[in-house]
Amino acid sequence: MIHLDANASTPLRAEVLEAMLPWLRDGYANPSGTYAAAKRARQAIEVARGQVADWLGAVPEEIVFTGSGTESVNTALHALDCHAGSGPALISAIEHSAVLRYAESLPRGVRLAPVNRGGRLDLDGFAERLTGAAFVSVMAANNETGVIQPLREVCAMARERGVAVHTDAVQAIGKIGLRVRDLGVDLLSLSAHKFHGPKGVGALYVRTGMAFSPLLLGGGQEGGRRSGTENTPGIVGLGAAAAAMRQQLAADDHAALRNLRDAFETKLLEELAGVTVNGDVRYRLPNTSHLSFDGCEAAGLLILLDEAGIACSAGSACMSGKQRPSHVQVAMGIDETRAKSSLRFSFSTLNTMGEAFAAAVMVKRAVDKLRRVQGSGVGPVQVYCV
Ligand SMILES: Cc1ncc(COP(=O)(O)O)c(C=O)c1O
Repeated sequence: MIHLDANASTPLRAEVLEAMLPWLRDGYANPSGTYAAAKRARQAIEVARGQVADWLGAVPEEIVFTGSGTESVNTALHALDCHAGSGPALISAIEHSAVLRYAESLPRGVRLAPVNRGGRLDLDGFAERLTGAAFVSVMAANNETGVIQPLREVCAMARERGVAVHTDAVQAIGKIGLRVRDLGVDLLSLSAHKFHGPKGVGALYVRTGMAFSPLLLGGGQEGGRRSGTENTPGIVGLGAAAAAMRQQLAADDHAALRNLRDAFETKLLEELAGVTVNGDVRYRLPNTSHLSFDGCEAAGLLILLDEAGIACSAGSACMSGKQRPSHVQVAMGIDETRAKSSLRFSFSTLNTMGEAFAAAVMVKRAVDKLRRVQGSGVGPVQVYCV
């Protein structure tokens, strides 16, 4: 199988698994205990906290471990909701459902900031809606298109008006460098399984001095900010994955990852007409390729590619199988036919160049086959760039 669905989840790195194994086997002591085994678990958690903090340019006290990216996001929005003044929440129209659904559930209401046809936040539209907003949540990069958002500008505008900002960095983290103080964010969410860590563990950065109210109440773990016995193996895995990604990013700024994605896309576009590259190519994550294929339904392509041993997605992972355009594609003004003919291919550093080329050949074959069966018209190759 060639896994080209890294934005949905990634395999564990070997060193991450090795770091976790002792804590799965023997390190079961509750880290809140007072005996030696418990203290060792506590120490391992604190090492991981330091690894995540270093990666983000934060201090360890600013990192809270959670049970997922979704929980981090919900916790952040809950805290903002508890402490912000009146007015609606302001979020981008392309947020992941973890942000969208939680924000929609708030009695204060929600305002959506538009994006342009390239899938990037429209800063004028954002500025207009910022007046009277209580707090902001804008993702660092979109999970479907991979388009990187103008977060620094968002934070600067919000800061001028004294409005706090959360960013859902679940997709961006590990693919581009993110330093919380450079960005100016108040809260940042991440999830280990998107960067070769385990599933079911996430982290939330909470800027020192931010007013905070926990979402989960109970035993008061994580300094009272997230109750529940800590997932020691998961947290150790998150820390190890963060350290490994930090090293890799410093070594080559993900040039190798970008080369894989670009080799796949270039070969496909050379050999296949009627393909549109969605999302502003100047601002994409190095690993994501979101493509529409004229005359092909994504659902059919997914079946053919699955048979050929290629794992990829139609739209975001959470939307797979549903035959309707995602809210991201709607917000970008992508018409329904093109939206329904789009697939997301997302690479990780564990893919190889051989896989990238083989995948391009197999995608071409599947598209040719489906076009023969469906018999619709095919236009030229299109690359969107504003
Ligand atoms: C942008 C974004 N935010 C949040 C999440 C949720 O993360 P988790 O799966 O850890 O709950 C995802 C997962 O796909 C995502 O892509």
